[in-house]
Amino acid sequence: MRVLVTGGAGYIGSHTVVSLLASGHEVEVVDSFVNSKPTAIARIEEITGATVPLHHVDLRDRAALGRLFGERTFDAVIHFAALKAVGESVAQPLRYYENNLGSTYTLLDAMAEHGVRTIVFSSSATVYGAEAPVPYTEDFDRLDSSSPYGQTKVMVERILTDVAVADPTWRIALLRYFNPVGAHPSGLIGEDPQGIPNNLVPFIAQVAVGRREKLSIFGGDYPTKDGTCERDFIHVDDVAEGHVAALQAITAGDPLVRAWNLGSGEGTSVLEMLHAFERAVGHELPHEIVERRSGDLPAFWADPTRAAEELGWRTSRTIDDMCVDTWRWQSGNPEGFPD
Ligand code: UFG
Repeated sequence: MRVLVTGGAGYIGSHTVVSLLASGHEVEVVDSFVNSKPTAIARIEEITGATVPLHHVDLRDRAALGRLFGERTFDAVIHFAALKAVGESVAQPLRYYENNLGSTYTLLDAMAEHGVRTIVFSSSATVYGAEAPVPYTEDFDRLDSSSPYGQTKVMVERILTDVAVADPTWRIALLRYFNPVGAHPSGLIGEDPQGIPNNLVPFIAQVAVGRREKLSIFGGDYPTKDGTCERDFIHVDDVAEGHVAALQAITAGDPLVRAWNLGSGEGTSVLEMLHAFERAVGHELPHEIVERRSGDLPAFWADPTRAAEELGWRTSRTIDDMCVDTWRWQSGNPEGFPD
């Protein structure tokens, strides 16, 4: 298939482009580079030996997007492009709604106008909100989220579901990721957060490489196995392969709109993750337990059954793989991607 990947220079997008190429798909990338660098695409080409046409376009630029769809032919779109920082979205809700929803409207319009009705959407476990029972299953239908970022995921899932009602020829996968971490084993691509990392593993990696003094663990008195929060960490290459499997599934059968969890089904605590990273690095890392972070849920993980049964997909990489691969990427690229 000829696949357009929006946000293909970003963290999960870049790994998915590699997996798509490895599975024999042709891929083009559209990215605004607000939170990524073109170097990521050069690295993908180095890993795969393929040429990846790159379109520097902000999806909200209706005219530029129309030209792109007019000039090129695509069978499907995988839509990653979005702002993604939870805390920033609380401070700047309008920016998040305008960007994440606006870009999706123009994308769907351009797709419909050019007869492309197959899309895989980058959703998140955050859509389960605070009330869903753990493990999270896809049939939980009172979707909600505590942050504007998360609400944009809930809303885009709703928009895509309504689009499929209006025109049942659409084929739509809603992929709800748990906590993607890790990097491609080549060490050439990985997560490259701007500024101070918000997420656990990128922060630990920057402590390990000497860019941060110590890890602050947000809360040590949760009702969990060791008092720190538990999350379902999943290797980014497993997430990437989940996209290839979903694309295959939605194009093989009847048109549909359907959600799938991409998670391992297991909870790992913050301390367990820190210790796994220490094993990868070969020494202990400085850390302290501080106050809880507002908005964090104590523990959640996926029920991954639906993806196993319907996509034939399940995770295959371990927590240690995630840490070893992250460390290879971070130690080889202490400052992230070069400009
Ligand atoms: N944590 C620390 N110290 C840090 C960073 C994180 O102790 O410096 C802890 C958090 O308190 C939490 C755990 O590590 O207990 C995981 O935190 P992350 O920020 O890595 O991940 P979250 O589970 O909070 O967020 C993830 C995604 C979001 C998504 C959210 C809800 O990053 O995109 O899950 O599903 F919205």
